[in-house]
Amino acid sequence: MSREAATQIKEKPRATHEIPTDLKREGVTEITTALSQLLADAFALYLKTKNFHWHMSGRHFRDYHLLLDEHAEQIFAMTDEIAERARKIGGTTLRSISDISRHQRLKDNNDESVAPKEMLVELNADNQALTRYFRSAHETCEKYNDVATASLIEVWIDQTERRTWFLAEIVAGL
Ligand SMILES: [Fe+2]
Repeated sequence: MSREAATQIKEKPRATHEIPTDLKREGVTEITTALSQLLADAFALYLKTKNFHWHMSGRHFRDYHLLLDEHAEQIFAMTDEIAERARKIGGTTLRSISDISRHQRLKDNNDESVAPKEMLVELNADNQALTRYFRSAHETCEKYNDVATASLIEVWIDQTERRTWFLAEIVAGL
C-alpha cells in the first residue's frame, strides 16, 4: 500500500456514533431528533424575525425594527449551541436549507405585505410555540438523564419567554 493510500485510510472520517457518551443509544437518537427539529425551528424563526425587521413599516418603525434585530441576534446565537450540543453527545445535525425546511414546525411567511401588528402577533405565537417545543425536548432529556442539554434548554426557554413578554406587551397596547 502506498504511503498516500495509507494516509487516506487513516483520515477516513470516523462514524459519529464513535463519539464517546455514557447516554443510552436510543437516548442519543431521540435527543438528536428533538435538537434537529429545534434547530430548524430556530432558523425558521430567525429568518422570519429578520424578514419582519427588514419589512417593518409605520409610526413605530424604529422601535420595532430595533427590537426585532435584537430578537434575531438572540435566536441566531442559539442555533450554534443547539447544533453543537447534538454533536457533543454523538449525534448529527442539519446540513442545509432543505434540511431546515424538512424539519421545521414553525411556518414561513412569504406574504408580500404584512402589517406591523400582524408581524408582532405572529412572532408572539411562534415564540410561544417554540417554548412548548423546548419543554417537550426537555422531557426527552430528563427521560435519559441528559442534564446538560436540559440545562441549555432551560436558558433558551427563559430567553424565548422574554421575547414573548416584549411582543405580548406591545401587541396588547395596539
Ligand atoms: Fe438590520
